[in-house]
Amino acid sequence: MILRPIHHTFAPLADGRFCARALMLLLQPWTWRRGPAVQEFRNALRENFAHLSGDSGVSADVFLFSSGREGLMALLQSMNIGHGDEIIVQAYTCVVVPNAIIAAGATPIFVDIVKETLSLDPQEVRKAITPKTKAIICQHTFGIPAPLEELRAICDEHRIPLIEDCAHVIPDDEGPSEIGKTGEFVLLSFGRDKAISGVTGGAILSRRTDVSNRLKRLEDGARDLSLLSIKRFLLYPLIYALARPFYGLWIGKAFLKLCSLLRILPSIVTSEEKSGHQSPALNRLPNACAALALDQLKRLRQINDHRRMLTRFYLEQCAEHGWPVLHGIRSDLPLQKFPMFLEGAEKIRQSLKKKNIHLHDGWTGCVICPESVDPASLGYRDGDDPRAEEVCEQILCLPTHPNMRFSDGSTLIRIFTQQN
Ligand SMILES: Cc1ncc(COP(=O)(O)O)c(C=O)c1O
Repeated sequence: MILRPIHHTFAPLADGRFCARALMLLLQPWTWRRGPAVQEFRNALRENFAHLSGDSGVSADVFLFSSGREGLMALLQSMNIGHGDEIIVQAYTCVVVPNAIIAAGATPIFVDIVKETLSLDPQEVRKAITPKTKAIICQHTFGIPAPLEELRAICDEHRIPLIEDCAHVIPDDEGPSEIGKTGEFVLLSFGRDKAISGVTGGAILSRRTDVSNRLKRLEDGARDLSLLSIKRFLLYPLIYALARPFYGLWIGKAFLKLCSLLRILPSIVTSEEKSGHQSPALNRLPNACAALALDQLKRLRQINDHRRMLTRFYLEQCAEHGWPVLHGIRSDLPLQKFPMFLEGAEKIRQSLKKKNIHLHDGWTGCVICPESVDPASLGYRDGDDPRAEEVCEQILCLPTHPNMRFSDGSTLIRIFTQQN
């Protein structure tokens, strides 16, 4: 049994520097809601994506909200999407994505995925398009690029916009070069375990002026989060930093349980959201969360390089042990996590848990995740998307986040091979 847990979800991006900043911010409550970090973060995001666009000159307007799901709802509203409209979205996604579509008044149409990329199957997309289709959302699942060229061609043919869901990956100078440039719109999330984190937050990048104008009005009219909610967000990395070293002992677990019972830990997906309901309210990105996310964006290359290093390590291990690799995975990808398909994946996760290795990430056993979601409440029927259903039973993901050291990766592989 190892003392320090190997995990996906225990504040994976909150390293020492992140925690020090959260602590500093905690001591300055007058900066929590509004301040210069919001504008600085907006500029830095714009710059990052303009840089990627190279010569094509497709710079984007950036709009910030307190979560990606709110950003997506605001985007759909700004595109005048509503009752009777359909939005294509992949099966094997997080419930908050279809929720945002429903909250905007439209209907999510779930389309099956290609197992090797964990993202939309263009052939299935073609079959799903109707005169009511108003947009396609393509998700770069765990940072594996979706088939953008094919999806762009479909969108152009049918004159509908493409929304790139980049919640799991933010490209840097090293790539992935195809991501974030092809869609009219890009969705970003700065949640706890995303590409970068502000504990919470989301952004929409818009390359269409008419939609940008409406998004601006929605962002300007968004309300401030309560000081209590912001305090909880700032406490989150500190609580996990205290609990993590002792998680292998009962005190770490008891401390987290207590914080959860006292409702100090903010929930990622609420029980209403699990049954298909998103609040129609739009909230501003708090200045404190923007400050945390800005600092992460400034170190994007370092964070992505760390993810690339672990991606390469796992690829080498797969080759050495003869484990099959998804064809969509390349050694230059800064994967948010490293997915594999294994027989008895759930059993393996359960047995690793006894060794303080927690590979449960909320993306297993569900086509619309997490597992406690009722897919029927979102219009998904069993058997609709068989490949997504297969994937979620066989998948096992390995962590690549900044708190996952190279030595943790080696330990994980050693224990994993001993057990299998
Ligand atoms: C693929 C994907 N897109 C969008 C989102 C929305 O992000 P947020 O949590 O910031 O609302 C998530 C969140 O889990 C996600 O996994």
